[in-house]
Amino acid sequence: MHDDMIPDPFADARRRDGVLVTHFGNEAIPMILSHRAVRAAAGNWQVFSSDAPFRVPIPSEEQVRSIRQLPIEADPPLHSRFRALLNPIFRRPLQADYAARIDALVAGMIEAAAARPSVEIVRDFALPLQSRALTLLLGMPEAAAEEWIGWGTHVFHDGADGTAKGAVLDTYIRHRVAAAHRYAGEDFFGAMTRMQVDGRALTDDEMVGIANLVFAGGRDTVINAISRIIGHFAADRAALVALGSDSKRIAFAVEEFIRVISPLTHIGRVCPAETTVGPVTVAADARVSLCWAAANHDEQVFDDPATLRLDRSPNPHVGFGSGIHNCLGSAQARVILRSLIRQLGARTRAMTLLAAEKQFETTPQYRRWVGYESLHIRIEGASA
Ligand code: HEM
Repeated sequence: MHDDMIPDPFADARRRDGVLVTHFGNEAIPMILSHRAVRAAAGNWQVFSSDAPFRVPIPSEEQVRSIRQLPIEADPPLHSRFRALLNPIFRRPLQADYAARIDALVAGMIEAAAARPSVEIVRDFALPLQSRALTLLLGMPEAAAEEWIGWGTHVFHDGADGTAKGAVLDTYIRHRVAAAHRYAGEDFFGAMTRMQVDGRALTDDEMVGIANLVFAGGRDTVINAISRIIGHFAADRAALVALGSDSKRIAFAVEEFIRVISPLTHIGRVCPAETTVGPVTVAADARVSLCWAAANHDEQVFDDPATLRLDRSPNPHVGFGSGIHNCLGSAQARVILRSLIRQLGARTRAMTLLAAEKQFETTPQYRRWVGYESLHIRIEGASA
């Protein structure tokens, strides 16, 4: 099957009754699948709540961290307060000089990759690119990324012992917060020490909860998007050439990649009171999930959803979520992915796929291609 044809493991259940009850460990979670129902649930926090520390991600994360992530694990009004504090930081990628700095970073990485016989894209390209780009968002020196790269593609689960890895991130963040109390510089940690909520400074736990989300949230999602975009264009150079350096076309292409890849398959909500989703009754305090990936393939909304159409417009995908929790890092993700596509076109002459091992998300009810375990590519520079 050509990669352009994107298999949708939720199609049958979405057409049948719009819900797939899926087993994650011992928990059976009804996944909400249609675009309409996912958006409605995302807009109804009273019924589908995020005020549930460790239980918004699926699987839940009680074992890998000890602090509530903010603002994602909160409902209004707490959510709105923290979101407002963070907004200015997450809007930085919209500034022109920021895009230029991301361009310089991406250019350097493509040139370095082209200087080698081949590169393993996931760990030697996407992970360092994601981490170094994060230093720009957080106003930290690029060298700070080297430690973050060492944490691997997923800060909680990459490696044999997920619990120990969560503790590494916690320790790192607590050190940074303590250092910012001693000297509050201009970086993200310094900025957090100056933030006020309800007329008081943030507690250390609130700072840790914010930082934990910033480091964990935009990591494997960005890495998978980068890797799949490179994998795609290695197989279809003509599509890359067709985009050229047209910023509008490239922006459409990024949205379509986010739609078909849907780097975050779904996310949880807790129902404070008994409710129903489709034909399923959800007990009080049980979870449902909002399945962005299924909504993004809903044929009621997307014409020919299984085909990647890089010029798709309109493209009302929910790959970055919907409603009040929609992705704060979307501007950062977009600036990275647009720069990547433009510069892959401009700075490479050829990309050859040498070996690929796909990574799947697997449950008893579905198996979904999310990214790569490894992706070996030979990149030839445009000037070579
Ligand atoms: C392609 C990459 C990304 C995808 C597909 C993605 C997807 C999402 C989705 C679907 C949500 C909604 C969660 C919910 O409704 O509960 C979300 C929220 C969030 N994302 Fe992203 N994300 C990406 C990149 C990033 C990056 C790079 C960062 C940070 C540097 C980030 C930080 C956040 C934060 C802080 C929230 C919570 C917002 C809130 O609760 O108000 N994300 N993301």
